Amino acid sequence: DLSVTWLGRAMPGCLYNASGVWCREEDELAALRASAAAALITKSATLAPRDGNPEPRYHPTPLGSINSMGLPNRGFDYYLDFARRYGDGGGKPLFLSLSGLTLDDNCAMLRRLAEAGLPALPEINLSCPNVPGKPQLGYDFGATAEALDAFDAAYPGLYGVKLPPYFDPAHFAAMAEILNRHRRLAFVTCINSIGNGLVVDVDSEAVVIKPKDGLGGLGGDYVLPTALANVREFCRLLPGKDVVGCGGVKSGREAFMHILAGARAVQVGTCLHQEGPGAFARIAAELAALMRAKGYRRLDDFRGRLRTL
Ligand code: DHB
Repeated sequence: DLSVTWLGRAMPGCLYNASGVWCREEDELAALRASAAAALITKSATLAPRDGNPEPRYHPTPLGSINSMGLPNRGFDYYLDFARRYGDGGGKPLFLSLSGLTLDDNCAMLRRLAEAGLPALPEINLSCPNVPGKPQLGYDFGATAEALDAFDAAYPGLYGVKLPPYFDPAHFAAMAEILNRHRRLAFVTCINSIGNGLVVDVDSEAVVIKPKDGLGGLGGDYVLPTALANVREFCRLLPGKDVVGCGGVKSGREAFMHILAGARAVQVGTCLHQEGPGAFARIAAELAALMRAKGYRRLDDFRGRLRTL
C-alpha cells in the first residue's frame, strides 16, 4: 500500500513527476494522468508564454542530466485552463508550478488561482537556475522572506515551495526559520536541480548545451545524496510541514531512501525524461517489492525512520 494522505487529501500512491518533465503540453499531462503517477504537476508557468533558451538545452549523461531550458512554457492561463477541466482528477491531485519572473507576477498568478476556486495546489518555484541574469530566489534569504509574506497576502489556501539544494547547516537553519513563520506553507519540495554545473565532452572538447556557455542544472545520480540531505534536514527543521523528495529517483530503492529520510511523496525527473510515464508503474512495483521483503505494509511504517550511527 503506497497511498498517502496529506494536504487534507488522499493520493493513490507516493510518486509523481518533477515539474518540468513531461508536463509542458496537455498531451504529456494526459499521459501522466493515464500512468501510474499518483499526482501531476505542471511545467513552471510564467504569466506570459515563453519559448525558453536556444537549443541544445537538455543533455542526458550516463549519470544523469544537465539542462538549461529557460522556462519554456505555455503561460499561466494554459495551465489554469487545464486545471479547470481536470477538476479533482478522480483522486490524483494536481499541482501547478508557478515561476513568475517577478514577485508581482507570482502574486498575480496566486490571486488568479485563488479566484478560480479549484482543488489544484500551487508549488511556487524559488529555484529556477536557468534564466540568464535572474538569481535563484531561494539563495537570497531576505528576498525569500519578503516573497513568502506576499504569497500569504495573495493566496488564502495551502501552498508549497520548490527549494534549491543547500549545502551548509547554517543555510538549512536560516531557511527553516523563515519557512516556519508561514503556517499555510504546507510543503516544501527538495530539491531543484543543482544549478550551474558544467558537463564537458572530451571528443568535441566542448560543452554539451548552448545557453550560459554550457552551465546548467544537474539532475539524476549526481544529485541523490544532496537531495537526501535536504529532505532529511528540512524534515527535522520543519515540524508540521511536509517535505516532498525530488532528486535521483530511478528505482524503488531511491524512492525508499527519500521516504526513509522523511519524504511524504517523491517526484521523478531525469528518469521520467529518459523512460517516459511507464517509469511510474515500474518504480512503484519495485518500491512495493522492497517493502514486502522488509515486512513493511505502509509508508508510515518507515517514513523518517532513517537510523544514525
Ligand atoms: C527551468 C529549470 C528549473 O530548474 C526550474 O526550476 C524552472 C525552470 C527551466 O530551465 O525551464
